[in-house]
Amino acid sequence: MLLQDKVVIISGIGPGLGRSLALRCAAAGADVVLAARTPSRLEEVAEEVAALGRRAVAVRTDITDEASCRRLIDTALAECGRLDGLVNNAFSIPPLADLADTDPDGIRASIETNVLAALRLTTLAAPALAEHGGSVVMVNSTVLRHSRRTFGAYKMSKAALLALAQSLATELGPSGVRVNTIAPGYIWADNLKFYFKHLAKERGVPTRQVYEETAADIDLRRLPEPDEIADTAVFLLSPLARAVTGQCLDVNCGEFHH
Ligand SMILES: NC(=O)c1ccc[n+]([C@@H]2O[C@H](COP(=O)([O-])OP(=O)(O)OC[C@H]3O[C@@H](n4cnc5c(N)ncnc54)[C@H](OP(=O)(O)O)[C@@H]3O)[C@@H](O)[C@H]2O)c1
Repeated sequence: MLLQDKVVIISGIGPGLGRSLALRCAAAGADVVLAARTPSRLEEVAEEVAALGRRAVAVRTDITDEASCRRLIDTALAECGRLDGLVNNAFSIPPLADLADTDPDGIRASIETNVLAALRLTTLAAPALAEHGGSVVMVNSTVLRHSRRTFGAYKMSKAALLALAQSLATELGPSGVRVNTIAPGYIWADNLKFYFKHLAKERGVPTRQVYEETAADIDLRRLPEPDEIADTAVFLLSPLARAVTGQCLDVNCGEFHH
């Protein structure tokens, strides 16, 4: 049990990676504090966590709002008494278009959520994390590793998030707090399944064919599942990674090498 009796806040509890992060942290022995804007989703995932025998505290949170973030940290400490980990998973996708065709306000909004809100939450959590040699994980993306068209604005925000994680590792290291990044590529969850089904229908081929064609260029010949990505965050949150900070762990079955 890598996270036995630790307390971890996870931002961005959605149906994909956010849910998996909560469940894999709980399966590793942690109590989890769940943050997102949709109460029904928080309650669903909280029930799944409880079924694993761990405590879930659901706190409706908008991470772009400072008062909301303060309430999240205060509630976590009031309900659970300590804080050992923070996973910044919430994100906002900017318009997917070439940069020249992208409204700067769309880019700005994405940077607000993906970068500045992660900074705010980490800064607010840092004093409590420092009391127990805590750990922060930023959820980034394989967009760091390519510069394909239409991904420019997303890449800008995630590249800034990586820079943020590295600088925070330096700033928080002396207080014993580690800051690391995971960078998933494809995630074989509902959104991607839906998209591949759509592509398959357009081409008149089975969905399995789209999957296999995609996987053919990936070292392990398959796409990572959400729990496999969440487990790398569990590792970075755990004492097994006690000497690891300022690093980025790519979790992509070998799609890109870094
Ligand atoms: N999906 C992929 O293929 C993929 C690939 C590579 C990397 N990633 C990264 O993995 C992470 C998770 O992606 P995912 O697609 O699996 O999503 P997810 O974890 O299923 O959901 C993320 C959740 O973030 C929440 N959120 C957005 N803005 C927020 C805000 N202002 N305050 C609080 N919560 C907010 C949203 O819930 P509410 O609307 O309820 O707030 C959303 O459901 C992201 O950082 C993403 O960049 C994803």
